[in-house]
Amino acid sequence: MGTMTNTLTVEKAKTSKIKDVDFDNLSFGSIYTDHMLVCDYKDGEWKTPKVVPYQPLTLDPSAKIFHYGQSIFEGMKAYKDDEGSVWLFRPLENFKRLNKSAKRIAIPELPEEYFMEGLTTLLQVEKDWIPQNPGSSLYIRPFILASGTGFHASPADEYKFIIACAPSGAYFSGKVKVLIEENYSRAANGGVGYAKAGGNYAGQFYPTQLAIEKGYNQVIWTDDNEHEYIEEAGAMNIFIRINDTLITGPTSDRILDGITRKSILDIAKDEGIVTEVRKISVTEVVEAAKAGTLKEMFGAGTAAVVSPIASFGYKDTDFDLPELTDSYASRLKKRITDIQYNRAEDKFGWRFKVQ
Ligand code: PLP
Ligand code: COI
Repeated sequence: MGTMTNTLTVEKAKTSKIKDVDFDNLSFGSIYTDHMLVCDYKDGEWKTPKVVPYQPLTLDPSAKIFHYGQSIFEGMKAYKDDEGSVWLFRPLENFKRLNKSAKRIAIPELPEEYFMEGLTTLLQVEKDWIPQNPGSSLYIRPFILASGTGFHASPADEYKFIIACAPSGAYFSGKVKVLIEENYSRAANGGVGYAKAGGNYAGQFYPTQLAIEKGYNQVIWTDDNEHEYIEEAGAMNIFIRINDTLITGPTSDRILDGITRKSILDIAKDEGIVTEVRKISVTEVVEAAKAGTLKEMFGAGTAAVVSPIASFGYKDTDFDLPELTDSYASRLKKRITDIQYNRAEDKFGWRFKVQ
């Protein structure tokens, strides 16, 4: 891993906001803990990270983040088990993906120890903020933004790497209804769809708003060329069960290589479920819905965990999915959350203890 040249410092907040938090009624990502990690990139290097009280940032109006959207982020969770121990799920995968995103957005890559030591130190400080309530966890948002200035359209010379945390409950409340997108695209070949670049999400807001106005929660993105192949569901990868086969699209330039997605594929195989990673067309899904062979659709991601889709809309028709008692979604969600919350054996070696 290597070591840091200087010791990571912790500046404690004078007061804590924790007593104002209703841990029994947490929404997703809307209240923040007392501290954050900050690490500056200056003079061609990442400086030693610091844990400081959670606070607003002061940035010059010409900072490149504001003009050219040079920013990337990650999404992770910390889980507390019944004994009060704290766990992360495959954190190095998030670290690697952060640097993959950094490279694509011309942001300097971060050393692994800055990410891992920064994250674990912050979590030790914020241990009391990690909820123990069922279905809740501490959502962790590592991100990098271009703080360097200039209207010249070129990469900044200064950046900030920050980790902020939010005790969170479920991402979706209630049933998820999705609309298969026929006009707009989230990503294109050669583009930045595989990176967790802030701008990818800004570009989704307007088409998603249009879908929400029509009564859906989320857009299902299709390929930018023909709008014929199913790609992703907003901030989730998508799985489709036809008969007893579980299908998800292959990763590409256009699809985020989700950690939940690949974990679900491994768990499904371990459960003896037949999986296929292949292109899946809208026609195939609509035909299966009509024939009654479309059993399930669900989204998978850190924030949304495994979110069953209750119905999908396509060309002005809504198709309802059956309500199954022993669905793949519920089996797979149980398996993955049992690993995350340290309730079951971790045969894949995915859990990481924060100590
Ligand atoms: N797809 C997109 C576009 C996302 O933003 C996310 C969220 O991180 C995912 C998929 C799921 O990825 P992961 O399982 O690594 O959280
Ligand atoms: C996550 O699943 O962690 C994400 O980053 C989704 C986010 C856009 C809410």
